[in-house]
Amino acid sequence: MILVVAGVGMSWALFFSPTWAQTYVSGRVITADGRVVASGALALEKGELHNNAFLVGGAIGSDGTFKIPLPSGGPWGLHVYSENYIYFPLQIQIAAGTDNDIPIILPVDGTPADNPRISNITFNKITNQVFQISMQVDDTDANLGPQMLAVDTKRFKSYRLVPKDGDIKDKKADFPNGEYLSPFIPVALDGEDLSGWLVVVADHQCSNGTIYDGAGQSVFKPAVAHTETLNCDIPGIWKSNFDKIYRFSQTQPGVLSGEQIAGNLLIDKMEQNADAVSIAYRFEGKTGSAELKLHCQENKILLEGPFRLADRSGDWVFSKLKNAKAALSGEKLFTDNCSVCHYADRKDRKVGPSLLGLFKNPLLPESGQAASEDNVRQRIINGGDKMPPFKHLKEEELRAIVNFLKTH
Ligand code: HEC
Repeated sequence: MILVVAGVGMSWALFFSPTWAQTYVSGRVITADGRVVASGALALEKGELHNNAFLVGGAIGSDGTFKIPLPSGGPWGLHVYSENYIYFPLQIQIAAGTDNDIPIILPVDGTPADNPRISNITFNKITNQVFQISMQVDDTDANLGPQMLAVDTKRFKSYRLVPKDGDIKDKKADFPNGEYLSPFIPVALDGEDLSGWLVVVADHQCSNGTIYDGAGQSVFKPAVAHTETLNCDIPGIWKSNFDKIYRFSQTQPGVLSGEQIAGNLLIDKMEQNADAVSIAYRFEGKTGSAELKLHCQENKILLEGPFRLADRSGDWVFSKLKNAKAALSGEKLFTDNCSVCHYADRKDRKVGPSLLGLFKNPLLPESGQAASEDNVRQRIINGGDKMPPFKHLKEEELRAIVNFLKTH
């Protein structure tokens, strides 16, 4: 036993460090017409959306998923491009040290004829260790935006190309048709696999045309049917008739929480009683309420009913796009992460104190701090003297472990 204790104490850093350091943004790109895109590009700006500080990028896989490492957390502007769909900019807030799952729903591009076009993609060797990309960009309705991008999908980088005669200060101005140049890219061109590079451009109406790889081949693959069978329940990703995306989660029987993804409507309270769902919310500083009903037809799950705000009312219709991920088992997470060192079903000490009745006592066993959810969360995230930090746990995993401990 003593040997085991010493071993665990000394080696946890080795065991745990590889996973909790890395920050990711990941997700699956689905479409407003119920499909999954099978090709496309993503580019991320550090900080505020539309500051054009492009830094990171990646590709959308043939199953619609992406997973991109980020150098830091905080605010990022995420841009998603897939041919036949409207380009989608989104301000996101990234938690460091975890995988941030961002649902993305692309609107259908109803007017593909006005899409900007790329031609003459050239990779020019500047020195042995540096190259530059040039390409021709044309737009029939001459309203190009500032996003002319090259994405290095293997190194997860993105670069913005600017007009050959120099960048335009006002990024809301229409950019000219013509030749565009990348900055000098510190990569050796000799031996570089150009199929790992993507180029994409967008105009001010959020249209993007064909996306090409560095060898000049279109990467387009038609979107595929969304095979997920939607459950007739509330937890999951929903889209409203105001074109906003929401994530609803179950917190307790009959009690839900909801968040609007990239929007300013705040859900304060959400309750379910059989097929009736009531929501209390705030929008533009005013409080509102809604009484919705869950309707389920074959793979078409709707939540609809009247909403009221101080100065307006109307109908709210949500359609479900995605199920919630399978509910996490707090017990399994506890077994996997904590049970080497803690019992939760008996009073004995293992490596650390027993966690039986943790929230039933007023104080925490070791530190003597108040037995609050916040203190327990901080302990799990930051670890202690002989307890490793669990910074890599996702918010929902942390919540599941805390809920498990509350019932013991
Ligand atoms: C490698 C052993 C180890 C693992 C794994 C571990 N702990 Fe601990 N834990 C300890 C030790 C030892 C203490 C006593 C304080 C200290 O030395 O940090 C402790 C203390 C605690 C405390 C009491 C804190 C206080 O303020 O009194 C809580 C709560 C706790 N751990 C929860 C967890 C949870 C939940 C997990 C799993 C996510 C976990 N621990 C995983 C070793 C571990």
